[in-house]
Amino acid sequence: MTDRYAVIGHPVAHSKSPRIHAAFAAQTGQDLVYDRVEGRVADFEAQVRELVAQGLRGLNVTLPFKERALALAGAQTRSPAAVVAGAANTLWFEGEVVHADNTDGCGLLADLQGRLGWPLAGARILVLGAGGAVRGILGPLAAAHPACLQICNRTLDRAQQMVLAMGPLLPSSGGGLSVLEPHQLQHQPPFDLVVNGTSASLSGETLTLPPNLFHRHAQAYDLAYRAEGPTVFMEQARAAGVRHVEDGLGMLVEQAADAFQRWRGVRPRTAPVLAALRA
Ligand code: ATR
Repeated sequence: MTDRYAVIGHPVAHSKSPRIHAAFAAQTGQDLVYDRVEGRVADFEAQVRELVAQGLRGLNVTLPFKERALALAGAQTRSPAAVVAGAANTLWFEGEVVHADNTDGCGLLADLQGRLGWPLAGARILVLGAGGAVRGILGPLAAAHPACLQICNRTLDRAQQMVLAMGPLLPSSGGGLSVLEPHQLQHQPPFDLVVNGTSASLSGETLTLPPNLFHRHAQAYDLAYRAEGPTVFMEQARAAGVRHVEDGLGMLVEQAADAFQRWRGVRPRTAPVLAALRA
């Protein structure tokens, strides 16, 4: 029988996940269908139970439900990555049991280290933002042994709270985890990698990115992507002289491949799927 999966979010119409998973299924010969489900903010939990009762095997979860998705799984069936992030983007169901994982961070690392070949060990890394997107990636970034991992957020208090809550759960990150306000960036030595995890790109707003942030061989990565053309962050990084600039489409495909592997036990090749999305 054909197995059913879906992505749930609000809004969800823009999601590329159905296209990505259909390509993975075709490539690996897996018998499955993958839909989009508009999530119900008022009773997300009841909605997931209804979907499970209808025979759904697994879900990808996107904004604004990732924290609530984690809460659906019991303590024994939450992956360490989901616990550290405090959020789940991948669920699967075995009878009454809900399994929760978060593949965002390992998806980012697969894109940075695997596809792009950007070294993280020993790197000075700056992460912009302190929302859900950043919480999803901090664990794997810290585990990659950077020389330092600094977080800069417009609202200092939010970044401090995040680091306070997450710090004890993170692996030791070499030079350590610290928090900055945007006005302090102009006094920092250059970074090897700057990751934009703010939602500014989505609303087309510019960020505080003084030119001293980047050295000649620095890399800039936006977790966000646009349907057409570079994000504002990418344009700002290029204007500051950065040549290695990427958007988050590669991460999107990699986190989907990891979710597919959790469900089906096989990891699809990502390069052809990313190329098709770019075309
Ligand atoms: P998400 O779950 O996508 O991360 P979020 O939790 O709303 O979304 O977080 C958005 C992040 O982008 C926050 O770090 C936010 O900064 P504040 O904590 O100060 O609100 C950041 N952000 C959004 N717009 C921004 C802008 N124009 N400049 C700088 N930071 C911005």
